[in-house]
Amino acid sequence: MIESPAVPSTLEVALGDRSYPIHIGPGLLGDPQWLAPHLAGRQVMVVTNETVAPLYLEKLTQGLADDLEVRTLVLPDGEATKTLAHVERIWDALLAAGFNRRCTLIALGGGVTGDMVGFAAACYQRGVAFVQVPTTLLAQVDSSVGGKTGVNHPRGKNMIGAFWQPRAVLIDTGTLATLPPRELSAGLAEVLKYGLIRDADFLAWLEAELPALRGLDAAALTHAIERSCALKAEIVAEDETEQGVRALLNLGHTFGHAIEAHQGYGHWLHGEAVGTGMLMAAELSCRLGWLSEAEVARVRMLIEAAGLPLTAPAEMGVDDFLAIMRLDKKNLDSRLRLILLRALGDACIHDETPPQTLAALIEAFPRR
Ligand code: NAD
Ligand code: GLY
Repeated sequence: MIESPAVPSTLEVALGDRSYPIHIGPGLLGDPQWLAPHLAGRQVMVVTNETVAPLYLEKLTQGLADDLEVRTLVLPDGEATKTLAHVERIWDALLAAGFNRRCTLIALGGGVTGDMVGFAAACYQRGVAFVQVPTTLLAQVDSSVGGKTGVNHPRGKNMIGAFWQPRAVLIDTGTLATLPPRELSAGLAEVLKYGLIRDADFLAWLEAELPALRGLDAAALTHAIERSCALKAEIVAEDETEQGVRALLNLGHTFGHAIEAHQGYGHWLHGEAVGTGMLMAAELSCRLGWLSEAEVARVRMLIEAAGLPLTAPAEMGVDDFLAIMRLDKKNLDSRLRLILLRALGDACIHDETPPQTLAALIEAFPRR
């Protein structure tokens, strides 16, 4: 990735006295001016994982002021570690270090680290400050913004958690240079999501720019991150705790979470499952008469061009999908609520899908 010399751009998540900035640009990690204003006091704990630590931990900590009490905690890597047991390790480390209510947690890594550290911050001494420093594309465009924090339960994805907003989100676009291509594609699923739910022009731009994005073109990636964060910030400001419009951000997730939970966390990447899930949602929207076959073909082409799977796991039957989908957090009064597409760039919440239509869609969806 060629680093552009551009000055970082800043967006705001407007939540009254809990508003916070999202700074986006290359080189932010090694420049303490972006982090320093968001520290609550002198005690700072940077939490990361064993893959990200050798790449970026020293870069982040070396510039921090000498009068800060900086501790680091390196957790194991992977979605399977997104558990309460690993959050307890964060609390143990904070207590062992004697950290008080004015400490700040820094989440350095992907969405797994960000979700766990945010949840640890939400609960430690009834809530302390935290800053998101996301290093995957998925975390930069989605999970670091908006304050959803938590862990998985063997019975369901992200079932234990809290809304807890960070003090700031620092997106160093340079970190994408070390991201494996499969992880980049997983992040592109969430980028496509924004175009599909709310911005047809962005979707058309993505159609043209996916090869550049997959080739780590700095200008294209920066635009994709900025537009995604702007759309997410707008939605979160409108509906912080998902009483309405925020649910649209779950396009593809109800099908996707079923795949992730059924396959065992970590086998399918979250973004891969969301990619396949968005195609299932598009096909269901077509069965309901909202999307044309040509529009579904366009969605399929976008998902394929992003390097994401177009088929569901061979061993997952209709009942496997439905059993997990019934546990989805969006469901109310035992009605299955799905995010579907009235048109490309226009999503809706729908709880009236006839059960036989849903079952037929799942049955007919290609497997591998
Ligand atoms: P992840 O955190 O597991 O990161 C993916 C992999 O990339 C890991 O192996 C990680 O160690 C590695 N990695 C991170 N940064 C790297 C870098 N710069 N270079 C090389 N390797 C790097 O997964 P993810 O895709 O970032 O996040 C997925 C998680 O986010 C899921 O648990 C999902 O539920 C959650 N999520 C949360 C929200 C939210 O709103 N809170 C939204 C979307 C997804
Ligand atoms: N990723 C979904 C949300 O933040 O609401």
